[in-house]
Amino acid sequence: MAKHIVVIPGDGIGEEITAGAVKVLQKIDEVCHIGLTFEKKPAGGTAYDLCGSPLPEDTIEAAKKADAILFGAVGGDKWDNVDPKLRPEQAVLGLRKALGLYVNLRPVKVPEVLAEYSPLKPDIVTGTDVLIVRELVGGIYFGDRCESEIHNGVERAWDLENYSVPEVQRISTFAMKAAQKRRHKVTSVDKANVLATSRLWRRTVIDVAKDYPDIDLNHFYVDNCAMQLALNPKQFDVIVTSNLFGDILSDEAAVLGGSIGMMPSASIGEMTSLYEPIHGSAPDIAGQGIANPCATILSAAMLLRYSLDEDVAADKIEKAVDAALADGWRTPDLYKEGFKKADTQKMTDVIISKIQ
Ligand code: NAD
Ligand code: IPM
Ligand code: MN
Repeated sequence: MAKHIVVIPGDGIGEEITAGAVKVLQKIDEVCHIGLTFEKKPAGGTAYDLCGSPLPEDTIEAAKKADAILFGAVGGDKWDNVDPKLRPEQAVLGLRKALGLYVNLRPVKVPEVLAEYSPLKPDIVTGTDVLIVRELVGGIYFGDRCESEIHNGVERAWDLENYSVPEVQRISTFAMKAAQKRRHKVTSVDKANVLATSRLWRRTVIDVAKDYPDIDLNHFYVDNCAMQLALNPKQFDVIVTSNLFGDILSDEAAVLGGSIGMMPSASIGEMTSLYEPIHGSAPDIAGQGIANPCATILSAAMLLRYSLDEDVAADKIEKAVDAALADGWRTPDLYKEGFKKADTQKMTDVIISKIQ
């Protein structure tokens, strides 16, 4: 039976990187006979320009009906001053909410070939293999907020962080189960020395862990965790944390392997799952055809594995990316003298040529 993928390129480099990932998926379909079909839908600033909404109803409907969603990125300076409710970022936030995508998996692996690109010493980062499990539909991202109010002549704005016990239970249960398939260690990250939401978070995670006696659970405050990721990233197996902390820590962890352009993600929940690179629309390099497509191509591999149960096809893509890197091909974000320079299209073509 055909498997229908809704592709949402979005803004900036979104078009270039999703085009590359779709080409890779088409090649894998020729090899593995999955029967993939693709449908492109607008979202983000480009959709706002097109029809006045960053997330058209038609895009939501198509996403709900699809077997999986491949998402590029949204956002850009051009839309910095539009009504906050209509900002491009509302597209990805709205999709996460509409599809109940409460889990965001952000794997960070540093193979030997990428260790030399890290801002840290190769022996500190080589072999890093962390799975960040970020809560994606709660916390301060979705709490009440006020853009501006005047009190006694003083203007202020506010955003409320709130978490319920069931919200923390479901994300920490997911993290425990993920750790059972890995190295059996979960680090929960919070700010329980200051925040009430973090105290509820920590006590709920401790409660959930009682059902997982095979899991070694520890806790870090987020400030210490940020430092530990730079000091000794190999100590981590699974990190489970809130929406905001997960956003920040995953960009930090992404550069352990030299470039955010290598880091994929999967957002999983109650309906169709969504796959996207962890980086944004990179307005500084958009339209030049030089973005690293690997994060999106590796997100497509996660799509095959988690939404379509096509583990063999997913492995083939991951191996092809490794092979292209091992052959010395580098997009500008990872380029150094002595290596082969690739633009987005060339990198995509090399990866496709390595699929067997
Ligand atoms: P960004 O991730 O877009 O870019 C940060 C830096 O990383 C830039 O120097 C960029 O050139 C580089 N970079 C990112 N992806 C790359 C790739 N594939 N290859 C090579 N270099 C790459 O973050 P930002 O600049 O803070 O945000 C830009 C816009 O993207 C903002 O509007 C932001 O809201 C949005 N954003 C969207 C998403 C999403 O759609 N999920 C995620 C993050 C940021
Ligand atoms: C991400 C992005 C988004 C987030 C923005 C664009 C809303 O930074 O996917 O990491 O903060 O979740
Ligand atoms: Mn982010």
